[in-house]
Amino acid sequence: MDSKFCTDYPWVSSPVIINAPMEAAAGDELATEVTKAGGIGMIGSAVNMDDLEAKLERAKESLASYPKMSSRSTLPLGIDLLPFVSKLDRAISIIAKYKPAIVWLFAAKVFDDYATWTLAIRQQSPETKIWIQVGSVTAALQVAKLCHPDVLVLQGADAGGHGFERGASIVSLVPEAADVLRANGFGDLPLVAAGGLADGRGVAAALALGAVGAVMGTRFLAAAEARTHPQYRAALLKAKDGAMSTVRSKVFDELNGPSVWPELYDGRALATNSYIDAADGVAIEKIRERHKEAIEDGDAGFGEKNPRAAVWAGAGVGIVNDVKPAAEIVMEVRNAVIGILSRLSASASSEGKLSLL
Ligand SMILES: Cc1cc2nc3c(=O)[nH]c(=O)nc-3n(C[C@H](O)[C@H](O)[C@H](O)COP(=O)(O)O)c2cc1C
Repeated sequence: MDSKFCTDYPWVSSPVIINAPMEAAAGDELATEVTKAGGIGMIGSAVNMDDLEAKLERAKESLASYPKMSSRSTLPLGIDLLPFVSKLDRAISIIAKYKPAIVWLFAAKVFDDYATWTLAIRQQSPETKIWIQVGSVTAALQVAKLCHPDVLVLQGADAGGHGFERGASIVSLVPEAADVLRANGFGDLPLVAAGGLADGRGVAAALALGAVGAVMGTRFLAAAEARTHPQYRAALLKAKDGAMSTVRSKVFDELNGPSVWPELYDGRALATNSYIDAADGVAIEKIRERHKEAIEDGDAGFGEKNPRAAVWAGAGVGIVNDVKPAAEIVMEVRNAVIGILSRLSASASSEGKLSLL
């Protein structure tokens, strides 16, 4: 593991597994279990600050019985804030009170906003590390220069939920960003990969690409502790072939009224009837009407009968096949990565020996 990572997050085991801070789904129950398993738990609650405070209070209690963690000056987990919609003043007072180890920023209207937020957070809680999620090499460099974050999360186009409308997968994003950052004096900035990672094979690949850790969102939606609607979860478990069953589109943000998201963003979700209508040229007013009817019809619009609500999911959804406790997911993925890397290393060294013969 990167030595900066060991110092900044000493409870963490290598390889570093992080649950994505997913609004609504990633509460304190999920985040604390991920942290207790030696990963980095993230709470998603960028919109409702009262809810965030309640989640942090419960997380603090839950982690207090873990001596390795309660002795720390920060709460060993992260929270996320979306500068285009979160309330900075309220967020700052919550951060000052609970001192989360990490504040993850994403989806600012303009990158300058990240600088304002980073400064304000660091003034209130200097121990809190700032992670910023971006989806292009250009954004990575710009944000590194503007904010000097503690970690950059590189989000590839396979990611579930919101992300850059124009993007590449982590396969090219991570190594190119690493090269460009290094060439510009940011070679020490730890990079974490996100997007389409749902098991040990993906995470091992992310490490090979140059990431020091891996974020999984969709995989953790199927964790027992995630607050995922039962029909939403059933749809995820049923979905196969992420290339066909998921799609990036802006229509998912238009279902309840005009989108409030910054122009740069769309989102990846299951290709439900709302998407199919949009692709067929059905007017957005009609799509909204049908969406409303599906919600009123039961199952919150996630049910098989008439799936119309946004089921955010990454391209890795086809390899998410079961519900497990979050700690088990963390340990299973970690062990799989260790197995893969040691097998590769053993076969590379034996092949190396053969070629010398
Ligand atoms: C249901 C869902 C909700 C999400 N909500 C947020 C959020 O509130 N804030 C955020 O920064 N990212 C959010 N994301 C994106 C994640 O940060 C991350 O990039 C993504 O989950 C990684 O891709 P994967 O789902 O394929 O693992 C969300 C993703 C999903 C699937």
